[in-house]
Amino acid sequence: MTISSNPTASLVVVVGSTGKQGGSVIQALAESDKEYRIRGLTRDVSKPQAQRIATQGVEMVNVNLTADNADAAEAAFKGASIAFIVTNFWEHLDKAREVAEGKMLVAAAKAAEVELVVWSGVESVVEVSQGKYTHITAYARKSGVQLLIVQAAVYASNYHSAFALKKEADGTYTLGLPVGPSTVVPIIDVVHDYGLFVREGIESPEFGAGTEVLASGEDISVAEMAAQLGTITGKKVVYKQVSDEQYMAATRAPHHVALELLEMWKYFEEFRYFGDKDTHPSRQHLNRSPRTWADFVRAADWSSILV
Ligand SMILES: NC(=O)c1ccc[n+]([C@@H]2O[C@H](COP(=O)([O-])OP(=O)(O)OC[C@H]3O[C@@H](n4cnc5c(N)ncnc54)[C@H](OP(=O)(O)O)[C@@H]3O)[C@@H](O)[C@H]2O)c1
Ligand SMILES: *[C@@H]1O[C@H](CO)[C@@H](O)[C@H](O)[C@H]1NC(C)=O
Repeated sequence: MTISSNPTASLVVVVGSTGKQGGSVIQALAESDKEYRIRGLTRDVSKPQAQRIATQGVEMVNVNLTADNADAAEAAFKGASIAFIVTNFWEHLDKAREVAEGKMLVAAAKAAEVELVVWSGVESVVEVSQGKYTHITAYARKSGVQLLIVQAAVYASNYHSAFALKKEADGTYTLGLPVGPSTVVPIIDVVHDYGLFVREGIESPEFGAGTEVLASGEDISVAEMAAQLGTITGKKVVYKQVSDEQYMAATRAPHHVALELLEMWKYFEEFRYFGDKDTHPSRQHLNRSPRTWADFVRAADWSSILV
């Protein structure tokens, strides 16, 4: 299928359409046998990425989704059956701003009478990140919108970088994290698969409003990630538990962000990324299998990373 222009087809408005999650949502809905019209939101419809999406039949709309721009957000959601909402912490590194923007998006979707709000908040990280997602999720629950939560696992692509894989003097590559080697994380190839889970959440009778989908291809230990990366690429890759100080320095992020990343890993080690929730049920009604870490490794080009 392709994206519909039929006015009777459900309209899905996608926040972050030019990004990894939103782009994946558009791709997955375009592959559906159900008919959807899609409106993609971006701050710049003229950029090449936005224009590429428009050629698929997506209506690309310019809007700056900041907290003081609620009216424009509401206008952008007008007529939608479904709104996909994601916030973007990494661009401004400001938690208060992220929470304000997330709440604004929920309120705007409600004001526009959207029937289903799909929210990409990850809940397990909340305790350590002073509730940034809980605030938005709690607000969304209280607001009375029909809410489907599709939580993204750890991106496999976070480790597809020379930055995450340090080359040692002896030519070995180390995957260094501040947790023990048996720490297990759920992993997702976000661009390839995140939308698959959103589609499942929207279309499968097992999910829908009031439910939660945990989007991950598999659960894998950090040591196993390093081992599989080595086996598949034929390079020597080892997992190394680094000290908290080493880890924070290696992130090269501002102190408060490095500290948050460190606390996240400590939290994953102790409580796991999705807490005690099982990821398997969320993979039961997908239209195809999501990629495992090994699948991601095989599909990616490592030549400029493991040189
Ligand atoms: N890395 C991980 O392992 C991981 C795991 C789970 C969740 N997350 C979360 O995922 C979120 C990021 O999602 P992503 O990976 O899809 O991000 P991304 O690829 O960086 O894309 C960000 C999108 O947000 C849009 N955007 C940013 N500011 C905007 C604004 N003011 N108005 C309108 N649009 C705006 C951008 O659109 P334009 O630039 O075109 O305007 C872009 O499409 C973050 O909150 C992150 O914490 C990350
Ligand atoms: C979006 O709004 C923010 C905050 O008002 C501003 O700093 C930024 O320049 C705006 N971006 C665009 C593309 O209008």
